[in-house]
Amino acid sequence: MAPWTKPTLVSFWLLSLCSITLAGVHHMSYLQLISPQAASGLPKRLQVMRVNDLVLSVYDSNTRRQAPRNGYIPGNQESQQFWNARTAGCLAWDSWVETEYQGLVREMNASSPKAEPYYMQILKTCELDDATGAVRAVTRYSLNGEDLLQHQTDQNRWFSVHPAAWRVAERWNRGGETSAMLNHLPLQQCRFWMERSVPFTTQKTAQPSVHVVFVPETQDRQQRLICHVTGFYPRDIEVTWERGGQVALGEQLTSGIRPNGDPTFQIQVSIELGQEGVSPAEHVCVVRHSSLGDAPLRMTWDSQATGQPGILVIVSVCILALLGIGALGWYLRRKPGE
Ligand SMILES: *[C@@H]1O[C@H](CO)[C@@H](O)[C@H](O)[C@H]1NC(C)=O
Repeated sequence: MAPWTKPTLVSFWLLSLCSITLAGVHHMSYLQLISPQAASGLPKRLQVMRVNDLVLSVYDSNTRRQAPRNGYIPGNQESQQFWNARTAGCLAWDSWVETEYQGLVREMNASSPKAEPYYMQILKTCELDDATGAVRAVTRYSLNGEDLLQHQTDQNRWFSVHPAAWRVAERWNRGGETSAMLNHLPLQQCRFWMERSVPFTTQKTAQPSVHVVFVPETQDRQQRLICHVTGFYPRDIEVTWERGGQVALGEQLTSGIRPNGDPTFQIQVSIELGQEGVSPAEHVCVVRHSSLGDAPLRMTWDSQATGQPGILVIVSVCILALLGIGALGWYLRRKPGE
């Protein structure tokens, strides 16, 4: 079952959730992908900008344009002019990054030659704390998933995470302002973007829908309940199983929060009902999300309405059979008269 391939214990997940929900921290990211050659459907260079997990703009080396996504209109700027200016910035990055990509591949391949193609990932992230106004940015470069270089604004210099990247780190550290605009995310740029996009993302909200499914015991698994929560934005959510007003005993496993492809997210949290005599209907899936205000959604496995497809099937078959018998009777009664 795909959603459960990497189950994480809920306690760990709750801990990480707490770190996010310390209210008023906004985050922005640029994900940049550089491929050795353009494949069908995948441009050679691609850049996706997200604010609070919402994709706001995309640039790719095929169209050579930066364009808005999800209806994003930055502030009250003249829109066409704005995107033309953004595209100009992206074109400068595009030619710069191609040269840097080739340089890094040369260094890496010289230290340990590989036959397979090299894909470069660049992740530029920054966080703005509403309460203090503090901004912090981290940029990471990697090749085929192996970390090469890292930049943190609080240290304001490049570190080579991989020994083969030290020459590049030194060169970038000598580079100054011009290089800074291209290879990492300067704080003023981060602040500029956050100010223009956070209000847009905070207007967006989508309420979760919740379904509870009962999975009977099998040879190698105990009976369990799965709470499937989907269609929510923003991403942060809390899903817990409760029983008698308290967090339910029994191991709760989460799929982790996953994107739906549209701007919304989904998550599944299951609970094993180990002990004898524990009724699934006593368990409540409790969902807390910013779109719901202070009133969490509570969903039980309702044995009448959704819980027992077996009974529903039997009832439907009976109704159909009765209808069939009725129709047959009507037909038989009618025939002699014709
Ligand atoms: C890496 O080095 C190997 C061995 O020298 C060579 O065959 C290969 O083409 C190089 N790859 C790249 C991408 O330069």
